[in-house]
Amino acid sequence: MREVAVIGVGCTKFGEKWESSFRNLFVEAGALALEDANISGEQIDEIFVGNMSAGRFVEQEHIGALIADYAGLATNNIPATRVEAACASGGLSFKQAYTAVASGMSDIVVAAGVEKMTDVGTEVTTDVLAAAADREWEGIAGVTFPGLYAMIATDYMHRYGLTREQLAQVAVKNHENGAKNPNAQFQKPITLDTVLNSTLVADPLRLFDCSPVTDGAAAVILAPLDRAREFTDTPIKVLGAGQASSTIALHDRKDISTIDATVAAGNRAFKMAGVERKDIGFVEVHDCFTIAEICAIEDLGFCKKGEAGRLTEEGQTAIGGKIPINPSGGLKACGHPVGATGIKQVYETVKQLRGDAKGRQIDTEIGMTHNVGGTGATVVCHIFGRA
Ligand code: COA
Repeated sequence: MREVAVIGVGCTKFGEKWESSFRNLFVEAGALALEDANISGEQIDEIFVGNMSAGRFVEQEHIGALIADYAGLATNNIPATRVEAACASGGLSFKQAYTAVASGMSDIVVAAGVEKMTDVGTEVTTDVLAAAADREWEGIAGVTFPGLYAMIATDYMHRYGLTREQLAQVAVKNHENGAKNPNAQFQKPITLDTVLNSTLVADPLRLFDCSPVTDGAAAVILAPLDRAREFTDTPIKVLGAGQASSTIALHDRKDISTIDATVAAGNRAFKMAGVERKDIGFVEVHDCFTIAEICAIEDLGFCKKGEAGRLTEEGQTAIGGKIPINPSGGLKACGHPVGATGIKQVYETVKQLRGDAKGRQIDTEIGMTHNVGGTGATVVCHIFGRA
C-alpha cells in the first residue's frame, strides 16, 4: 500500500442554504478544494461522494454522475461513485478515496460529501433520517432518531450517574467552539440554562441536545504522499483508517450505552496508525446528540466508561483541555448535513494540523475523526498527522 496525504480541502458554510441548489453546494466545496490544492479539474482521476438521501431530500438519484457532470468533468469520463452509509456516508467516502490512492488504482482523488436537507419539512426529514435505523423494528413503531438516542441517554444516565448538567455542558462547549468557526450554522455561545430550558424533544434530550437539520457540502483531495509536495507545502498524512459495523437495531446490542462499532473502528485506526491515545491532540467526534459525544469519548478509549461527563464538566474536552473534542463546534454547532459531516470532520482536522484554524487552534501534530451511521451500525475513524 502507498502512503496517502490530503493536499487540498474545501467546505461551504453550513446552514439553511435557500440560495443554493444541491449540485451548486457540491460545486462550491469542490472548487474551494481545487483552489486550495492548486490544481485544475483535469488533474482529478476519480471522485467519491458521500450522500445519504438525495432521492428523498431533493428527488435526485444517480449522484456520482451528476456531481462529475456539474464539476465539469463528464467529458473526461472520470469514475465517480456515490457512497452511502447514512450519516457516515462522508467518512466512508473518505475511506474509499484513501483506498483508491493507497492501492495505486488512482493518483489524485476527490472525497466529498453533500446533503441538502431543508427543502422538505421537519416531518419528512425525521422520516428520512429514521431510515438509517431498522425500519421494520424501530421506524415502523414510530421511533425517531432523537427517540433512539434518548433511550441511550436514559440507559447511560441510570447506569453511570451522568447528570443533566454534564450532558448540557457538551452543547455549551460545542457552541463555544462553533462561535469561532465561520462555516458553522450556529455561531453563538450558549449557557447551561439555554440547554436546560429548551424545548423537550425526546426525554431527556432537549432541542439544544440535538444536532440541527442542515444544508452543506465539503470536499478534500488526496494524493500519494510522494507526490503531495508537487501541490502543497503542508500535506497532511493519513496515518490510520478503521471501519466497523454493528447491529442496525438498538435492541440487538448487548449494551446500548457502548457503541461497539466505535470501539472496533477506533482500535483498528489506532493499530494501523501505530499511535496511542495520549498522542492524539484532538478528536472530531460524531455528536449528533450530546449523549453521542459522551459515549464516543469513552468508546474511543480516551477515558473509562462513565467518566466522560466529569471530563466534560471539568473542561477537559474544551480547547486547551486534556483531550479537546470537536474544536469545529461538532455536529451540534456546525450543523449536520448528514452526507457531508464526515468530510467536514476531515476538513477541520486538516485545518488544525496545518495551523490554519484561526481562533480555535490547537497546537498538535496528530488529530482524529469519528463518523457514525445510524445509532452506530456503521462507524468510520481516521487518524491524521503532519507529514
Ligand atoms: N439546536 C439549536 N437550535 C435549533 C436546533 C438545534 N438542533 N434545531 C432548530 N433550532 C432552532 C432554529 O434555528 C429555529 O430558531 P429561530 O426560530 O430562532 O430561527 C428554531 O430552533 C426552530 O427551528 P425548526 O427548524 O422549526 O425546528 P424543528 O422543531 O423543525 O426541528 C429538531 C428541531 C430537534 C426536531 C431537528 O433539529 C432535528 O430533528 N434534529 C435531529 C436531526 C437528526 O436526527 N440528525 C441525524 C442524527 S444521526
